[in-house]
Amino acid sequence: MHEPVILGIETSCDETAAALFRGHELLHHITATQLVHTAYGGVVPEYASREHNKLLGPVIKGVLEQAEFNLQDIDSIAVTQGPGLAGALLVGLSYAKGLALGLDIPLYGINHIEGHIFANFIGQSELPTPFLCLLVSGGHTQLIHVESIHTYKLIGQTRDDAAGEAFDKVARLLGIGYPGGPLIDRISRDGSRNFHHFPRSSFPESYDFSFSGLKTNVLQYIRKQNAGFIHSHLPDIAASFQEAVVDVLSKQTMQAARDLGLDRIVLAGGVAANSRLRERMSELTQDESIELFQPDLRYCTDNAAMIAFMGYWRALVDEPDQLNIAAFPNLKLSFGV
Ligand SMILES: Nc1ncnc2c1ncn2[C@@H]1O[C@H](COP(=O)(O)OP(=O)(O)OP(=O)(O)O)[C@@H](O)[C@H]1O
Ligand SMILES: [Mg+2]
Repeated sequence: MHEPVILGIETSCDETAAALFRGHELLHHITATQLVHTAYGGVVPEYASREHNKLLGPVIKGVLEQAEFNLQDIDSIAVTQGPGLAGALLVGLSYAKGLALGLDIPLYGINHIEGHIFANFIGQSELPTPFLCLLVSGGHTQLIHVESIHTYKLIGQTRDDAAGEAFDKVARLLGIGYPGGPLIDRISRDGSRNFHHFPRSSFPESYDFSFSGLKTNVLQYIRKQNAGFIHSHLPDIAASFQEAVVDVLSKQTMQAARDLGLDRIVLAGGVAANSRLRERMSELTQDESIELFQPDLRYCTDNAAMIAFMGYWRALVDEPDQLNIAAFPNLKLSFGV
């Protein structure tokens, strides 16, 4: 049987990415991280769109060349439709529509969040549903009961900041720089996670999260100390903050899995790259004989492999999208009742 060749395109934020799949098999992928934002301490939306415009063509060309394929070999296109920055999404979506029209091939608009969830199974021909997913990214912190592809139940979510956002904001408070998550993770390795006990939020009878109080607590803590103390204990403070986040995420996830009787847990999103979260979840799941899936580090943050892979699965269960589909900056997973 001829396995379809799928081109995936991702431009929702500050990574310009393309990937090529044959069936469920990854042939090649490229993620170009836009460096222009570093000087601003965060993503500048207009610059992100302009960089996507500049980089997307060469990135797609690079993927095709590396896999030794031509444009004409592509059977379908999968592109991130949302959520993300409106202008950034539009660049990828317009490019994908142009290619689909020119090559006369089907187009699939992909929900970026589904991409993150199923990034765990890139290259696999089976999806081990049902499972509990802890989705922790820059914009999301959710516990999702994944019954099957497209069938989701929201179990809990953050009431304020997302976990990744908390990492980025605390990194800024500590003057560590941007992007905050990976930098806090790195310097925490040289610190003591028991140096200071930051408060852990909890909501009785709910699996919700909250991280804005923790961020304020870090701010109040550092305001009380002098600059020399902060400087010499930066790894300790970072590790203590990280431990508070990991503690809340891991305990809540384990409790939900127990209560729902699910014996598989899947981590997804940029914060799933956090080494302490991965370590803690491995320990806790081993203790309770729960199977843990953690995405390959390359597929935790934004990438096009997860988009093309979702395109493969979408093509098995759905009709292609029309060429007039719009970008949805606030696209959500659709949750059943
Ligand atoms: N090792 C790490 N430890 C903690 N946080 C991390 C790590 N690596 C990345 N992050 C965080 O992950 C976030 C980026 O993840 P991702 O690219 O999935 O989010 P996003 O695309 O901005 O948001 P969304 O997918 O919700 O729209 C950032 O907040 C970043 O700080
Ligand atoms: Mg993302």
